[in-house]
Amino acid sequence: MSTPIPVVTVDGPSGTGKGTLCALLAQTLNWHFLDSGALYRLVALRAGDLGLALEDESAVAAVALALPVTFSIQDGEFRPVLDGVDVSARIRTEEAGTHASIVAALPAVRAALLDRQRNFRQAPGLVADGRDMGTVIFPDAVLKIFLTASAEARAERRYKQLSDKGMGVNLRALLEDIRRRDQRDQQRAIAPLQPAPDAIILDTTRLGISEVEDRVRQLLHERRLA
Ligand code: C5P
Repeated sequence: MSTPIPVVTVDGPSGTGKGTLCALLAQTLNWHFLDSGALYRLVALRAGDLGLALEDESAVAAVALALPVTFSIQDGEFRPVLDGVDVSARIRTEEAGTHASIVAALPAVRAALLDRQRNFRQAPGLVADGRDMGTVIFPDAVLKIFLTASAEARAERRYKQLSDKGMGVNLRALLEDIRRRDQRDQQRAIAPLQPAPDAIILDTTRLGISEVEDRVRQLLHERRLA
């Protein structure tokens, strides 16, 4: 029997540093990269552009199944091209994140994205970023990491990111948004945000990204992945 293509999963709520860690992992290992959150953001964006209600499960699932998207990686960033147009900036707003979490709670939408996500598993390996990568999409992953951090720490990081980009933001509104999105992601009936039983949980509230990276490098070494 041939050995399955290895997958490393990184799950957890937004603002825990998943994106940065995944970009580093994909670069270190020279593996492919899946940003599954981008898929939910794209589905919500497309549904909105088509004038659909985000709760219209069968219509939004049809959009998810037929999503005309390709991806390119530029400077370690996952850039989606929808119908020939680079929509990276449009899917990265706070509103796009909230809309993504609404469509992500619909079982038919999640089912419609299953194969698309699993098709990212290409040799020599895949780093997968999301909420259910280790629990549902790639339960046989060779290493599962689950990042957590307090909602306050995540809101502050997001605040800094947006302010650095010159965007006017309100810390309290960001914190409320994060809490609402966490609640929706954790309490949904299908694929709720939770660590896989065999995941390594890293709390990044007080850990800097370089300490997280050191710990993950050590894990890769222990599992003979790098
Ligand atoms: O990771 P990101 O913030 O881009 O994800 C946006 C939303 O998409 C999340 O809040 C979550 O509701 C949903 N999502 C999901 N399953 C994934 C990835 C993202 O439900 N694997």
